[in-house]
Amino acid sequence: MASLPSGTKRPWLFEAFPALEQGVPWTPLVEAPTPVQALEGLSTHLGSEVWIKRDDKTSSTYGGNKPRKLEFLLGDALSRGYKTLVTGGGIGTNHGLATAVFGRKLGFHVVLGLFGQPVTAHVRKSLLLYHAYGAEMFYMSNLLSALWRFYVAERIRRRDAYFIAGGGSSPVGVLGYVDAGLELAMQVERKELPLPKVIYLAVGSSGTLGGLVLGLRLAGLNTRVVGIQVAPRIFANPRIALRLARKALKLMRRHDHSVPELALTQADMPMEAAYYGEGYGHPTEGGRRALALMARTEGIDLDLTYTAKTLSGLLHKVRSEGVKGPTLFLNTFNSVDLSPMANRVEPGLLPEEFHRFFKGKMVE
Ligand SMILES: Cc1ncc(COP(=O)(O)O)c(C=O)c1O
Repeated sequence: MASLPSGTKRPWLFEAFPALEQGVPWTPLVEAPTPVQALEGLSTHLGSEVWIKRDDKTSSTYGGNKPRKLEFLLGDALSRGYKTLVTGGGIGTNHGLATAVFGRKLGFHVVLGLFGQPVTAHVRKSLLLYHAYGAEMFYMSNLLSALWRFYVAERIRRRDAYFIAGGGSSPVGVLGYVDAGLELAMQVERKELPLPKVIYLAVGSSGTLGGLVLGLRLAGLNTRVVGIQVAPRIFANPRIALRLARKALKLMRRHDHSVPELALTQADMPMEAAYYGEGYGHPTEGGRRALALMARTEGIDLDLTYTAKTLSGLLHKVRSEGVKGPTLFLNTFNSVDLSPMANRVEPGLLPEEFHRFFKGKMVE
């Protein structure tokens, strides 16, 4: 086998189910396993044991939950000879940025379809970064036009492109989080952390939740995983998480008959909507407080769209349900600072339809 880039490793999936390696394309991006650590300051503050899995460190190029999905998605695109990747999301999409970063690294032309969301510093920086990493960008004025353009118009126009679902949440992308579930189970077995009673994670397009639950169940762990809804219900809901998990399982079983059949239900994918606030990308007060608490007690940065809302949910649930722990927080936000790259780009270099996002006041 060819040698792997430094820090990366073969998926745990291929170790657990060796026949998968023949049928499931994959390209190394993730520096695994990501660390797990006790959040001692936060636990003392809360009076309950909380741990974190540092998926913000999945890659020293660009971290967060997206590189795990892209290992399988870009592996698939490479193996099928595609040269162009098309994907999309809000104007601050982390998935779009990760696709631009790793797509360019692997020689793809990356096209991003973007729709509006509240303009924060993070959004402005993301827009500059898409350009810095060479992505072609087009604007879609609202969600409906986005769905039409992404699922119909662009597919007709760009027949030779590999389309990646929003958030990377297709059955192929979800394999990245099945792998993360196996990785976490291995870390529990090696006693790097106690078996969590509950795991909390952010739910945008539902693939991280579906994949992690499937991976844990395949590893024989029945740990409860609770999704915190941070995106519209049409993308973030237990039905979609379950469908993605079932399809990913089917895909695995097609390539490796030793993968067991599992009877997953929506009860395996519970989701909380109470911490969402006004909508996607709208910061909440609870999220701001959770972000400040994590920074003060642990020196770890969260973002207001995904992980701060998720931690606010975890804190509220642990307090109100009197959970003794251990509770695990999955940090899905990239912690690699790409500011130097963003600072090289003047907003005027972006396509004209994006200039408006650099005028006027921001939300934060
Ligand atoms: C930082 C961050 N956390 C969590 C998520 C949610 O993951 P998923 O889309 O798989 O539900 C996303 C992307 O949507 C994200 O960018």
